[in-house]
Order: sequence, then C-alpha cells, then structure tokens
Amino acid sequence: MLVMGVETSCDETAAAIVDDRGTILAQALATQTTEHEIYGGVVPEIAARAHLSYLPPLIKDILKQADLNLEQIDAFAATTGPGLVGGLLVGSMMTKAMAFALQKPFVAVNHLEAHALSARMVADVPFPYLLLLISGGHTQLLLAQDVGRYKLLGTTLDDALGEAFDKTAQMLGLGYPGGRQLEQQARAGDPLRFRLPRPLINQPGCSFSFSGLKTAVRQLIQAKLPELTAVHRPSLLDEQRQTICDVSAAFQSAVVDVVSNRCEHAIAWCREHAPDVRSFVMAGGVAANTSLRQAVQKLCTRNDVQMMVPPIELCTDNAAMVAWAGLEHFRMGQIDSYDAPVRPVWPLENLQDLGHAASKGISL
Ligand code: KG4
Ligand code: ZN
Repeated sequence: MLVMGVETSCDETAAAIVDDRGTILAQALATQTTEHEIYGGVVPEIAARAHLSYLPPLIKDILKQADLNLEQIDAFAATTGPGLVGGLLVGSMMTKAMAFALQKPFVAVNHLEAHALSARMVADVPFPYLLLLISGGHTQLLLAQDVGRYKLLGTTLDDALGEAFDKTAQMLGLGYPGGRQLEQQARAGDPLRFRLPRPLINQPGCSFSFSGLKTAVRQLIQAKLPELTAVHRPSLLDEQRQTICDVSAAFQSAVVDVVSNRCEHAIAWCREHAPDVRSFVMAGGVAANTSLRQAVQKLCTRNDVQMMVPPIELCTDNAAMVAWAGLEHFRMGQIDSYDAPVRPVWPLENLQDLGHAASKGISL
C-alpha cells in the first residue's frame, strides 16, 4: 500500500511516498527561506507562487527516487488546512488532479493531525497519548484519543512559540527563521544575567502566552543593545556579542520554564481524566530545541510517562507525515471527495464534523 503525500500549507513545498509500515520510500522538500527572508516573515502570495513552481518537479523527483510510476500509487493525500489559502489550493488541487485522473482515493489531511500522528510512523505509540505541538504557527497541548479524535487541553492566547523564537532572534540580528540560531547563541550565554517574565506560569490550566515575554525581550534589547536597533549597525564588540548570548539564554530559560509548567499541568490533568495515557509526544519545529527536550524528558521521567520525539526531519514540516496521516484515515475507510474544500482555519477538535465527508469504507 503506497500513499503519496503533499504539503504546501506554509512556506515548505514537500512531497513524499510512504508505505503502510511507515517506511519513507522517497521524499523531497523545497524551503522558501530566501523568498521570504527580506520580509522577516512568510508573504502568502509569494508562497503560493513558489509552491506552484516547486511542486511539479518535486513530484517527478520522488517518483524517480522510488523508481515508481504514478499508476503504482494507491492513494493520494494533501494538506487541505489549516494554513495559507493560496498554498493549500495549489497543493490540494494538484494532488486531487492526480487522484482524479487515475481514479484513486484522495484524503484531505489536517496539517495539525499530520504532526499529531507522525510519532506513530516511527514507533508504536498507542492511543491515547499527550501531544505538545510547538511550531512557527501553533502551540498546543492535545489529548490524541484516536485517529480523527483530539481534545484540546491548551493553546496560545497570542503568539505561537516558534514565532516568539523567530521575533526574538530577529531583534537580536540572528536572521530569519532564527529559532535554531538563538539556541546556538544561548549555549554560550548566562541564563541568570537577565531575568525575563514567565507568562502564565503556575496559573491553572494549560494555556500559553508569549507576547508579554516578547515585549520584555524587546525592552531588554533596547536597553542593553541599542546598537542592534541603529540604522547603520556598527560591528559588534565581544562584550556585545556576549550580551546577545546572555539575552538568548534568558529567553530560552523563560520558555523552558513556562513550557515545562504547562506540560506538567497537562500530565496532571491526564492522571485525573485520562489515566490510560502512557506516552507524551513532542512535535513541530521547536521540538528540535535541545534544552526544551531535556526539560520535558525530565518531567516525563518524573511522572512515569514515556517521551517520544520523532526525528527532527519529521518534526518540522514535511510531506511524509501527510502521507502517513492519509494512510491512517484510508485504513479506517475514511476518504474524501475530489471536491473537498481547503480550510485555512481547521481546529483539530472539529475534524470529525468537517473532514472525510465521503467515507466510503474502502478495505485493504
Ligand atoms: O514546524 P515548523 O518547521 O514549521 C511550522 O509549521 O511553523 O516550525 C518552524 C519553527 C520556526 O519558528 C523555527 O524558528 C523553530 O521552529 N525552530 C526552533 C528550533 N529549530 C526550529 N526553535 C527553537 N529551537 C530550535 N532548535
Ligand atoms: Zn507544521
């Protein structure tokens, strides 16, 4: 059973072929960092046009890598939401066109669910499990009850965690997207030199908030590193470089404290309401952060929960997870019609109401 997955919801164009054991037969990905870098964020119209030119060669490439022709693909899956509407349309229309031409099933995949199920591709992670999804666009704690069934325990009230990393990195002159660079700087920094706020820490529930932290970092940078905001930036002295490292470390340490505290609340909630939860899955680009992983690992060990983080190339946006989510639904007989719409806003909790309208009960 071979499924082709296509991902175009943000600024990554990706295609992959996955089999029903979770083996990735082929995958290809084109990032649009250079297209958006000068704007300091993703420009939707530029992203849609880039997907349009990148996707056809990527599809040819994965078929060649796997030594397959299109007729040998059993089902097609594409991200149809949530995300930027232009990109979603490009990816889903192209995928539906292939499925329709070959009269093969099409599965409309929710991008968040693709992240949620990615751990099951590489390990035996039974339902129910806790999921921390932390990316450039999302920050959520979820209870994954089954394929298509999710309960939202908490989300961000303002910025996504990846966005907070990227904005802080940008203010520190570390480029865009700068999460990874900020982590590198933090390694050489003193997390105790500056004290930043820890929004919502110890408050009841599992919500997140990062805008206050971002404002505090901005004020700190304006006070300690005014040269970074100067129009003609002078070359930096060693002392200023050290301050960049120390601010990065202070930011990361605040984030680690907040995220650990929110995860601890989620684990406590599960103990009371979902006692059969045994695993904690971390996904999304920010799950690449080593300090965060170590902190969550400690928390899981303390609470006798198994932590599972998919390999980093499966944590960040990719098409293998889309193919896999398509496969999980296909296996349950849930497919979609060729005119399934795109959904720029598509909360995971509404999956059963809106997705897979055309369940046809296909058996393998
Ligand atoms: O999941 P992803 O690839 O794309 C989205 O769906 O957004 O996540 C990208 C985000 C960016 O904000 C990036 O800065 C962040 O993940 N990121 C990191 C690290 N590596 C990537 N943030 C913190 N530490 C890292 N090592
Ligand atoms: Zn994502």
